[in-house]
Amino acid sequence: MSNHKVADLKLAEQGRLKIEWAESRMPVLMTLRERARTEQPLKGMRIAGCLHVTKETAVLVRTLRAAGAEVSWSGCNPLSTNDEVAAALAAEGTSIYAWHGLSVEEFYWCIEKTLEFKPTLTLDDGADLIFTVHSKHPELQGGIIGGTEETTTGVQRLRAMAKDGKLKYPVYAVNDSETKWDFDNVYGTGQSSIDGIVRATSVLLAGKTFVVGGYGHCGRGVASRAAGMGANVVCTEIKPTAALKAVLEGYRVMPMDEAAKIGDIFITATGVRDILVGRHFERMKDGAIICNTGHYDVEINIGDLEKLAKGKREIRPSNEEYTMKDGRRIYLLAQGRLVNLAAAEGHPSEVMDMSFANQFLALCRLAKDGKKLDKKVYELPPEQDQELAGIKLRTMGMAIDALTEEQKKYLSSWEEGT
Ligand SMILES: NC(=O)c1ccc[n+]([C@@H]2O[C@H](COP(=O)([O-])OP(=O)(O)OC[C@H]3O[C@@H](n4cnc5c(N)ncnc54)[C@H](O)[C@@H]3O)[C@@H](O)[C@H]2O)c1
Repeated sequence: MSNHKVADLKLAEQGRLKIEWAESRMPVLMTLRERARTEQPLKGMRIAGCLHVTKETAVLVRTLRAAGAEVSWSGCNPLSTNDEVAAALAAEGTSIYAWHGLSVEEFYWCIEKTLEFKPTLTLDDGADLIFTVHSKHPELQGGIIGGTEETTTGVQRLRAMAKDGKLKYPVYAVNDSETKWDFDNVYGTGQSSIDGIVRATSVLLAGKTFVVGGYGHCGRGVASRAAGMGANVVCTEIKPTAALKAVLEGYRVMPMDEAAKIGDIFITATGVRDILVGRHFERMKDGAIICNTGHYDVEINIGDLEKLAKGKREIRPSNEEYTMKDGRRIYLLAQGRLVNLAAAEGHPSEVMDMSFANQFLALCRLAKDGKKLDKKVYELPPEQDQELAGIKLRTMGMAIDALTEEQKKYLSSWEEGT
């Protein structure tokens, strides 16, 4: 019986090349894979994964299998699956249900298929898989040792579940590790969101007023990369300290009601719904470009946009032109879904190297000791960050200093002062 559903198996060869390219850029994960081949830390584990099917994810999947696990995979966003990569994974025997452009119904069908082999571990990006297990499959919960979560929005959902006493097994918040949140969300989302905007529009960023909704980890990365390309960056925030950081970085800060009037390009990065709504679309300039890089497609209220528009057409791939009743045109990229994954390739491999090394180590921890954990959201130990960053630096050919014995003594003493 077939254990996959992908767009076209004939794409496997192109997918294999993409994966090999990613492998050549992911030395930390590849080091862990080589170690795991002999140690087999995931032997006997059945891992259901729901995470964007990109070339980097394929490197993680291959690593999980090399470590002894059986794997069944689905994508975590209807528009983020790379069909070539999905075909390559299916061709090498991975159970995978994913294709680009699936409907919401198909999205959940794919998740259901990955649960058929009764997983012992789950891996999420946005918590849709865990949510499905919790809401529809009580019979599976006893057999699941634990799970991991990749992104900010998923961790928020899981903490809310744990707070309400609804979480049925322990979960590691991979997102919250320093080597994930401070690198992937900042540098990965920063570069790849710009990449998505440019692929969908090919506009010049220099001289544009570039509005970033939310100056958190992702917003900070996007703002800095847009500024680096010569855009005039404006940030919107609800948190005073985040807004102040944006100001001191040299960006203008104002409410979205003001920014809506002056922006040429808008990107939302908050993880919160309704950042751009009808009253903003009413104020925008003719030609404004709007997109989102937060996890769900709720940050731009597309319903409001549809109501205000008299017509729409696809003017380029991942770029829809909405014509307002007064003739102004607003361009929505990637249907309001994560622009970096839907209109480009997602984060560069180099940054996913550390994120997925964290994923891999979190799953190994669960396989070893997960049964001893409580049903709550755990963070990974900070020593893991130092270990991974150390390996990363070494693979980049860089060395750093170490504390001398005198320095260690100095740091642990309280008697020495002025
Ligand atoms: N595109 C990707 O590949 C990618 C990668 C990582 C994370 N994400 C997603 O991006 C989103 C943001 O993640 P993060 O790690 O930057 O989170 P974060 O918590 O670091 O930052 C979010 C920021 O948005 C601000 N904010 C909240 N509501 C706001 C509002 N109404 N107006 C303006 N600002 C508001 C918060 O104060 C915060 O500073 C999440 O949904 C996350 O899952 C996407």
